[in-house]
Amino acid sequence: MHNQSSRCFPLPKISQAALDKYILSDNANGKRIEKWIALHAKNVKTWKITDQYALAHLIPLILCGEQSAQLVFNQEINRLFSENQDDNQTMIKSLLEVEADEHRHDQALQAILNALPAIENKRHIQRQAQRFYAQLGRGEDRCQHFIKIATLDACVTQVMHEFEHCLLGVNHPFSNLCGLIKKDEAKHVYVARHHAQALGATSAMFRKEQHSVSHLLHQLLDTQVEHFHFLGVDLNKIFTNLERKWQ
Ligand SMILES: [Fe+2]
Ligand SMILES: [Fe+2]
Repeated sequence: MHNQSSRCFPLPKISQAALDKYILSDNANGKRIEKWIALHAKNVKTWKITDQYALAHLIPLILCGEQSAQLVFNQEINRLFSENQDDNQTMIKSLLEVEADEHRHDQALQAILNALPAIENKRHIQRQAQRFYAQLGRGEDRCQHFIKIATLDACVTQVMHEFEHCLLGVNHPFSNLCGLIKKDEAKHVYVARHHAQALGATSAMFRKEQHSVSHLLHQLLDTQVEHFHFLGVDLNKIFTNLERKWQ
């Protein structure tokens, strides 16, 4: 079932030791996403072909971020777990929950992408996204990295909000899925910000990264601007609003 070509980062091994120790709380939104996959993933080919074509250009950009996030959270869980300290417990549990959310997003988006028509420049789009997400974590300390993740997820929350209310209509399965992912991402912003603060992040550090991360993400998404436009998603509006919020 897995199409390797739609992976941009390897799937990390589940932190079994951590999972054995922590019982994750009942996740209603996660269940809704699983139900979405069971119900709608098999019908992707019945979506309007022009919409499918636009989504085939856009989903790789987001999917790559879901996969990169799983790796980052997985590494941090393993690190905290190996420290074997009692005061890490709450954070490990929150990070495990985020990793599980990202895995569900990855599964849902991958199921869609695998059913969408093949497009000529898929590899190229994927590579650009891969470069962006890999760069984000390069040569940074953990604190800075989590500031960037909190910022990135704040941006993704807005992008998902716009997809939820895009020209596909509020009843389209893709709009529904984006509404569900949005809810998780808003929670991730909180977890990543909290963790960055625990690692020593200050408001000045947040301000500095917010500007550069959102600028770089805007640049990446802009490479497919005509497809966003086709679905009625206005990137300039999204990023102007974010900048205004952060000022
Ligand atoms: Fe996600
Ligand atoms: Fe996230």
